[in-house]
Amino acid sequence: MARSKEADVARLYHLQSFHVRSRPLEPPFDRDLHPLRFRTYAGATRTPLPGRDFAIDAPLGAVLERRRSHREFALRPMPVETLGRLLHASYGVRGTRKIDEEWSCDRPAPSAGGRYPLEIYVATQAVEGIPDGVYHYDARAHELELRREGLAHAALADLTLGQDMIMNTNVVVIITAVPFRTMCKYGQRGYRFLWLDAGHLGQNLYLVATAMDLGPVAIGGFYDEELKGFLALPAEEDTMYVVCVGQPAPAEGRNGP
Ligand SMILES: Cc1cc2nc3c(=O)[nH]c(=O)nc-3n(C[C@H](O)[C@H](O)[C@H](O)COP(=O)(O)O)c2cc1C
Repeated sequence: MARSKEADVARLYHLQSFHVRSRPLEPPFDRDLHPLRFRTYAGATRTPLPGRDFAIDAPLGAVLERRRSHREFALRPMPVETLGRLLHASYGVRGTRKIDEEWSCDRPAPSAGGRYPLEIYVATQAVEGIPDGVYHYDARAHELELRREGLAHAALADLTLGQDMIMNTNVVVIITAVPFRTMCKYGQRGYRFLWLDAGHLGQNLYLVATAMDLGPVAIGGFYDEELKGFLALPAEEDTMYVVCVGQPAPAEGRNGP
C-alpha cells in the first residue's frame, strides 16, 4: 500500500502485468532487436579461474539443514578455486541446448524462457592469487574481467546503507540484470521474471557457499544508482541483489535482522 499521496506503482505494475484471458499476450520483440545474451568488457584484463566443476561433497539435506545467513566473519585467505567453484556451481555455463526453439546456454539456475538476464560482479578480498578488486564474471569463459583495481569492501559497506559485516568477507557478489534480455520476450510480465531469476541465483549462492563451509548473507538494501555507477554498468543494466560470502567466525551466534 502506498504511504504517501503518490500512486502505488508497485500495485499498478502488478495488475498491469497480469495474464487475463480477455487480453492477448504481449508479442515478443523481433529477434533482430534482442540484446546480446552475454556481457563482456572489451580490453579488460582477464583472469582465468580454476574450479569449473561441481566438486561439492555435501548431501543436499545436510546443506539445507545448515543454511543460514552469517554476519560475523574471520578474514582468512580463500583459495581461488573456491571462488571459481562458487561462481560456476551457482551460475556457470555447463553447455548449450535449445529452449523454445532458440539456442540457449545450460546453467545450474533456472531462468524464464532460458533468457538468463543476470550478470555477476565480484569484489574480492584475500582471494589467493587474485589482486583485491572488482571483477565481472564471464561465465562462458569462466574468467574474471577486471573492472576496478583495489579493495572495494569499505566502499561497498557504505553503498549498502552501512552494512559493515561486509568488511571481513572474502567475496561480495553483486547480481545485476539486463532487463531487456527477458522483457524482449515476455514484455511487462518479464520484469517479474528478473527478480525470480535473481532469487534462484541467490539461493544457489547460499547453498553452494554453505556446502563449502562458507558463510553467505544476502543484502537487498543498497543505493541503486550509486552502486550502478561504482560498477560502471552500461545504461541498460541494473543492480538487483548482493550476496556476500565469507568464512564464519568460530564463535558466531545467531544474530542480525
Ligand atoms: C531479498 C533479501 C534481502 C535481504 N537483505 C538483507 C540485508 O540487507 N541485510 C541482512 O543482514 N540480511 C538480509 N537478508 C537476509 C535475511 O535477513 C535472512 O535471510 C532472514 O533473516 C532469515 O534468516 P536466515 O537466512 O539466517 O535463515 C536478506 C534476505 C533476502 C531474501
